[in-house]
Amino acid sequence: MTSAAPTLQIGSHTLANHLFVAPMAGVTDRPFRQLCRRMGAGYAVSEMVTSRKELWNSLKTSRRANHEGEQGPIAVQIAGTDAPMMAEAAAYNIARGAEIIDINMGCPAKKVCSKWAGSALMQDEPLALQIIEAVVAAAAPQGVPVTLKMRTGWCESEKNAVRIALGAQAAGVAMVTVHGRTREQGYKGAAEYTTIAAVKAALRIPVVANGDIDSPQKAKEVLALTGADALMIGRAAQGRPWIFREIAHFLATGQELAAPTVAEASDWLVEHLLEHYSLYGSLTGMRTARKHIGWAVRDLPGGEDFRQTMNRLESCEAQIQALRQWFATLGADYERLPYLAKAHAAPTMAATDDDDDDDDSKQQQQE
Ligand SMILES: Cc1cc2nc3c(=O)[nH]c(=O)nc-3n(C[C@H](O)[C@H](O)[C@H](O)COP(=O)(O)O)c2cc1C
Repeated sequence: MTSAAPTLQIGSHTLANHLFVAPMAGVTDRPFRQLCRRMGAGYAVSEMVTSRKELWNSLKTSRRANHEGEQGPIAVQIAGTDAPMMAEAAAYNIARGAEIIDINMGCPAKKVCSKWAGSALMQDEPLALQIIEAVVAAAAPQGVPVTLKMRTGWCESEKNAVRIALGAQAAGVAMVTVHGRTREQGYKGAAEYTTIAAVKAALRIPVVANGDIDSPQKAKEVLALTGADALMIGRAAQGRPWIFREIAHFLATGQELAAPTVAEASDWLVEHLLEHYSLYGSLTGMRTARKHIGWAVRDLPGGEDFRQTMNRLESCEAQIQALRQWFATLGADYERLPYLAKAHAAPTMAATDDDDDDDDSKQQQQE
């Protein structure tokens, strides 16, 4: 893939470019996806939705299924362990507007895996293929393409990504994304790209490289190492959604794009927060906005102190006011975001409870 690479198709959908924002439960809700799209991401997959029917009417799942005003194609990720249930989940989401169904075989969260879903499925290839075939059979009659997101394998000695990807392609899957870690690794160690390159070499459908892409230079390197058709970026977009336009610019010109101005970043963040509050309501919105604000300021001078102060604020209005004030003060000293030296390191992540759907009822009780 280069800036001059041919446009990418998933079924009948032509994607805007080759830079995707990764699905991240608890992060890539509709407001965040829209922000990333505005900042140069060409495609965004929604947070995973469980195949467990009893949770479909929960507040959490209904928020995850909120695509109001979202630029298409609308891609919904489903996770589960049972082929008929996954087929039903696909049909249900298609009936509610999903234009692409993504199967999650990449999530390592404990609760999901103990139920034999997410990346745990990679350990049982026949079941994995049964699920893929059932989902494709449910989606194909509606003209909806199915994509697959997975890891390199179950563990270091069981890197079966190529085999599963080939099976998925034969079953009619339209695109495969590979995160360059095994399930066993969780988020530890570094992502490797050799297995992604092997998947790319083996398949004729588009292959997307994912894992540890946290700068334009790294994006270029991963492309060269894998030959992938597209790149997917997750953690590095947290608090820095403009990474997509920075990567696009670097791939097109070989030049680094200047960081956004402080005023631009402040405006974008406020706009994002307003959308966020309107999706979640003021109480949950105020609480869940804290992580986004924290990510946005943490690599900036004084960001950590501000994050701690901001975490004690108890209303949306107070958050917005403090944020504007903080950026205005920063803007008096700097025209553009002055990232500190450790800047651009991808935020670390232990698989969070956000990675599963088990806490739906808990969350509902809180609201
Ligand atoms: C907070 C968080 C939540 C995630 N949730 C999902 C998910 O719902 N579905 C999925 O396929 N992957 C999920 N992932 C994995 C990411 O999509 C991505 O594969 C991984 O973070 C590696 O990419 P990165 O190094 O660019 O972050 C999640 C990752 C994070 C950090």
